[in-house]
Amino acid sequence: MATAIYFIIWVLLITDMVWTRSVRQVNEPDDWTVGDFDCPRECFCPPSFPTALYCENRGLKEIPAIPSRIWYLYLENNLIETIPEKPFENATQLRWINLNKNKITNYGIEKGALSQLKKLLFLFLEDNELEEVPSPLPRSLEQLQLARNKVSRIPQGTFSNLENLTLLDLQHNKLLDNAFQRDTFKGLKNLMQLNMAKNSLKNMPPRLPANTMQLFLDNNSIEGIPENYFNVIPKVAFLRLNHNKLSDAGLPSSGFDVSSILDLQLSHNRLTKVPRISAHLQHLHLDHNKIKSVNVSVICPTPSALPEEQDLFSYGPRLSYLRLDGNEIKPPIPMDLMTCFRLLQAVIINHIANCSLPPFSIVQLISSI
Ligand SMILES: *[C@@H]1O[C@H](CO)[C@@H](O)[C@H](O)[C@H]1NC(C)=O
Ligand SMILES: *[C@@H]1O[C@H](CO)[C@@H](O)[C@H](O)[C@H]1NC(C)=O
Ligand SMILES: *[C@@H]1O[C@H](CO)[C@@H](O)[C@H](O)[C@H]1NC(C)=O
Ligand SMILES: *[C@@H]1O[C@H](CO)[C@@H](O)[C@H](O)[C@H]1NC(C)=O
Ligand SMILES: *[C@@H]1O[C@H](CO)[C@@H](O)[C@H](O)[C@H]1NC(C)=O
Repeated sequence: MATAIYFIIWVLLITDMVWTRSVRQVNEPDDWTVGDFDCPRECFCPPSFPTALYCENRGLKEIPAIPSRIWYLYLENNLIETIPEKPFENATQLRWINLNKNKITNYGIEKGALSQLKKLLFLFLEDNELEEVPSPLPRSLEQLQLARNKVSRIPQGTFSNLENLTLLDLQHNKLLDNAFQRDTFKGLKNLMQLNMAKNSLKNMPPRLPANTMQLFLDNNSIEGIPENYFNVIPKVAFLRLNHNKLSDAGLPSSGFDVSSILDLQLSHNRLTKVPRISAHLQHLHLDHNKIKSVNVSVICPTPSALPEEQDLFSYGPRLSYLRLDGNEIKPPIPMDLMTCFRLLQAVIINHIANCSLPPFSIVQLISSI
């Protein structure tokens, strides 16, 4: 899903660039001379694409003066430590800045440097040396990519004006539970994807934005999920909690019986039972837990979860993919699993040591009942 979204965004960007380029070519035949004249010496200004400035992979220590015509700025993989205001003073058209793989610290970012970019949509700051989420940020921002920094702090009010932010990527940082205040995520009215994988959280982040659809929390140390946690994020569809410390006792009383969830990943946790799920769930990853057996009469979602959908034969539980390998379950797969989950297409279950099955037997279960 994430890949699909990135792909769509990529296609949109390409379309935008191509469009920009063709419009420019038609209307402004002098662009070549303009670009040639104000192009920073260290960078490359493609004559046919006058809104882009390429300064990546050049060992740059400083950001050059950005001409006012630039929309797309590529500065990744340099040795840049600071983001001053000055080089951006005329760059009011910027939509996209890629500063991945540099050496930027919070001390190096001048207060107005980013917030003066009133049209900025995408800001890439992955693989830098940030210890805080930079603030203030432009209100127009739609994507903020901060993976693989050292972020442990989110200054008060950082996100409060970012009403258009749809994606926030904080994976592989140093966030602890105390990074979050009551109102940390308040104001993120359009946030859809939140990635906090590979941090040091022991608890679920509190008070998430109501439109969150994708929540990725893999590789933390989360032990439990509070009762009614999902009530504030009624649209959550993709939930990843692989590589945490979830136990049966840490789950809410209704488990993951949340009708919005379509894809639930709970691999590498400490569950001994298959948790309750809703009839809408399509993909369930439960591999590498401590599950001993599957009691279908307990986990089969009850039809009452679907009051509006009377015809059970066509609208029964939607589960199509189930991963159970790396547990303590003995084959064969209970037949009543197929009776309950009629759309199940693949169950991946491990063999017990020294049994004659291959290490992974992918069992295709096409219901013929
Ligand atoms: C911004 O534009 C002004 C006027 O053209 C120019 O004097 C100044 O050097 C420019 N600043 C940068 C950082 O390019
Ligand atoms: C948010 O996006 C909408 C729709 O694209 C736009 O009209 C609005 O100006 C944006 N808000 C900010 C603060 O840029
Ligand atoms: C989590 O950790 C495992 C094991 O180290 C690794 O294979 C996996 O790629 C990590 N996933 C994420 C999202 O960080
Ligand atoms: C499955 O659970 C039901 C209800 O709790 C119980 O009556 C039944 O004995 C269990 N079946 C197995 C095989 O453990
Ligand atoms: C399989 O059996 C052999 C011989 O009985 C034993 O040495 C080996 O440890 C067993 N493998 C596993 C994975 O238990």
